[in-house]
Parts: sequence; structure tokens; C-alpha cells
Amino acid sequence: MSLAWRKSAIAMVAAGVLVGSMAACSSERDTGSGSTDSGDAEDMLVGIAMPTKSLERWNRDGSHLEELLTDAGYETSLQYADNKVDQQITQLENMINQGADILVIASIDGTALGPTLDQAADAGITVIAYDRLINDTPNVDYYATFDNYGVGTMQGEFIEEALDLPGGAGPFNLEPFAGSPDDNNAKFFFAGAWDVLSPYVESGQLVVPSGKGPQSNDDWASIGIQGWSSDTAQSEMENRLNSFYAGGTQVDVVLSPNDSLALGIAQALEGAGYAAGPDYPVLTGQDADQANVLNMIAGKQAMSVWKDTRALGDQVATMVDQIVAGDTVEVNDEETYDNGEKVVPTYLLPPQVITPDTVDVLVDSGFYQASDLGM
Ligand code: GAL
Repeated sequence: MSLAWRKSAIAMVAAGVLVGSMAACSSERDTGSGSTDSGDAEDMLVGIAMPTKSLERWNRDGSHLEELLTDAGYETSLQYADNKVDQQITQLENMINQGADILVIASIDGTALGPTLDQAADAGITVIAYDRLINDTPNVDYYATFDNYGVGTMQGEFIEEALDLPGGAGPFNLEPFAGSPDDNNAKFFFAGAWDVLSPYVESGQLVVPSGKGPQSNDDWASIGIQGWSSDTAQSEMENRLNSFYAGGTQVDVVLSPNDSLALGIAQALEGAGYAAGPDYPVLTGQDADQANVLNMIAGKQAMSVWKDTRALGDQVATMVDQIVAGDTVEVNDEETYDNGEKVVPTYLLPPQVITPDTVDVLVDSGFYQASDLGM
């Protein structure tokens, strides 16, 4: 498949998706009727619990939300838990004991916070799940995230178009990956992509030489990468390359649910002799992390799904204002996110596809400086 042909297919897909989602993705904070003057915010403590600093996006999420809330007059407590569940629980308990009024939580393990949120409920604290749904507890009041199933659909449709699968092209060798088994988002990412791609696996246009193609969406955790670790993804890809591609068989496409996995997979591909160029596999991602955007520009990743975390922070800050003011909290999805105890009222934001031909969007929006991307 020529690089020129693939690039034109990539540009066509990205342009279509970009237009469809640009209008909806704003980094302006909604200061609608629910906004609260600083008087209501004073003496209000908002706890912000982020999973880790080791994955680039969470540093942006935490600092942006802290800045928004501090500027609005709230007292904040921003904590990162190094991807350690017990540490996050301790941090949350400390926030509760410090008298937090609202908790904004990007959980590490969405099934591990039930007892802690019982304490929060007893203390009259309102809980917002941030980007990752918290499960198995009634004590989650709101959820704010991006369309997680839509992220996966974008990845699947990108592969579909880049390989011209609707046109009958193939067979192509595919290696699929999924996210961390303890992250509720990961099943949505995989389902969105596999609902697009599995028919082509069944038809034989996509072949999985490693045999690691899940039989159904429910089987996604069988190819999950714990903690979204780049190193673990690299080792897994190296194992597959050594075991199933030794005889000259080439990988044509890798479904990676996010950029930290894609980074490790790209390292494994490089170690196996794959170089940027017309035969480099179509590799997907998510988060538009800086290292991955640089890899996209270098021809080592075909796309990433960008979630403007500033817009997510803006929406959560608006939700905080609305909660404090006693206003109706704005949500736009009251059906999708059943956490095992209740359907959590949710605000979904639109993700968008970024390719080497559209990285300017990241600079024009101020998400990156041109110098960040060597431009
Ligand atoms: C997910 C999140 C993704 C990615 C991943 C790794 O929950 O939705 O955007 O950041 O975690 O942290």
C-alpha cells in the first residue's frame, strides 16, 4: 500500500471527523446561568484526585482544573497517587477529613472506592467522577468525560478507511491492544473499535497472527495492558513480533487504545527493524501526547484521538459552580453510564482525530506551542 495513497485516505478521514467535531470542542468555560461569584466559592474546599503524574495528560488535567477553581475563589487540594490505589484512597480520606465540600476524582481502579465514597456521602460531599467512571457505589453524583465509545469508533474507522477495507482490500495483519483492565473507559474504547473491525476479522480481510483477537467485546481485558504502561505494551509487542513474525511476516496495522501504549509499541516496532515509510504499520493512539505527536510527524504513528482536557476541566469547573450555587447541574447523557448501582448523570465532550496532516489544530488551539512540536 503506497504511502501517498494512504496519506490521502488518512487526510480524507481526518478532515471528515475534524469538521464534524470542531464546532463542539471549545476551551471556553461555560459561564451560563449557573456561574457562581467568588463569594459562594470562598470557604469551599474542592478535592482533586488524579491517578498519576507518569502519564502526560493527567498533569494537564490537574493543573488546569486547579487553576480554574483557584481563580474562581475555591480552596483546592490537588493530589496525584502514582497509580497506587491505596494511596489514592488515603488521599481521598484526608480530603474528607479536611472538610472537602466537593470531590473530583479520576480513579485508578473504578471498583475500589465504594467504602471511601460511603464516608464522603456521610459527610455530605458531592462527588464528580472525572474522565473515568467510578463503579459499584451509589455515591457518585456526576460524571464528566469524553465520548469513550466514540474514541474507539474513531480508531476503528480510521483503520477501516486507511486500509480501504470497505473496498475489499486485504488481508492485512492486525495486532489489537486494549487499555488497563481496572479502567472502566477501556472497555468502551475497545468496543467502539472492535464493533468496526471485527466484521473484517470474520471476513478474513484482517488477520491476527498472534491469535490475540478477542472473540467478543466482553473479552477485551484478555489483551489489556495494566496501568496503561508503555513498558508493558512494548514487551507484549516484542513478544508477539518474536513469536509470530519471525519468518518475514509483516505487521500492517496495530490498534492501540491510547498514546502511552502506542509509544511502547512504536519502540518494539523500531527494535524489530520497522522504519517510518510506506510499509510502516498503521498505528492508532489517543490523548495527543507530545511524544506521540512528534512520532506522528516523524511517520511512526498514523493518528491520535485528541481530547482537549482544557474543555473537560472547564466543564467540571462549571459543574462545581452549579453545585455550589444550588443550580441544576448541566448533563447531556443520562442513559449510557450505569455504574452497577445507578445510571450516573454525565456530561460527554466530543473527541477529535488528529493526523500528521492536522497537527496544526493542536497549535492553533493553544494546546501546544509550535516549538513543542519542532515546528
Ligand atoms: C483513560 C483515559 C485516556 C488515557 C488513559 C491513560 O482513562 O480516558 O484518555 O489517558 O486513561 O491514562
